[in-house]
Amino acid sequence: MKASVSKGVWAFGALLSVLVALVSYRYVAGVGLMAPNVMANRFVQPWLVLHAGGASTALLIGAFQFMPRVRASGPWLHRWLGRTYAAGCLIGGVSGLALAAGTSAGPVAAWGFGLLAVAWIFTTLQAWRFARTRRFEAHRAWMVRSFALTFAAVTLRVYIPLSPLAGVHPEEAYVAIAWLCWVPNLAIAELWLRSRPALVAARA
Ligand code: HEM
Repeated sequence: MKASVSKGVWAFGALLSVLVALVSYRYVAGVGLMAPNVMANRFVQPWLVLHAGGASTALLIGAFQFMPRVRASGPWLHRWLGRTYAAGCLIGGVSGLALAAGTSAGPVAAWGFGLLAVAWIFTTLQAWRFARTRRFEAHRAWMVRSFALTFAAVTLRVYIPLSPLAGVHPEEAYVAIAWLCWVPNLAIAELWLRSRPALVAARA
């Protein structure tokens, strides 16, 4: 029962990730609706195309790396998807940092997005380092943290349409969401890891 609930949660998260990633590639193709507040970002050129390309690729791939079947089907698939995921996070993270500095939403949002970018780059590099040194439990734990941050792209897009329902002005909500889209994700990932002693023991 517990396993089927967590499989259901994973499948729902993976579906949302794929949908958000595919829709976000429109910024790379330059077609469809562009968020006006984002187009007002001071560093939109050239960073948004790089960001949407790299980060969407990480979001598209990330959830599938946790599937035992992907790992079992041969280490090369997991390895190549992992390299693509990490490259997507690093490109998305560096460009995300530039976009954070240029946001039109003010300094509190800039710090929220900026710290998310730093945490995203850090957790991904840690995961990569532990894979290279074959410390796979630690690698897995850092990948859980990294993907919890990648998933901020989904939680942000869930919270934005919910904010008018909560009676909050969209501009004020956006500032709060710059933090809310990732801090709870990371806290949930940490609690989940703590419920798995083998992964926690390998945290260092
Ligand atoms: C996890 C670290 C991330 C950081 C630090 C970050 C940062 C940012 C920032 C600062 C902006 C501009 C916001 C503004 O000007 O107010 C932005 C926009 C955007 N980001 Fe990210 N982002 C991250 C993850 C992702 C992911 C995983 C995706 C994948 C879909 C993504 C896709 C986009 C897109 C498509 C936009 C354009 C605007 C929109 O449609 O909301 N980002 N990001």
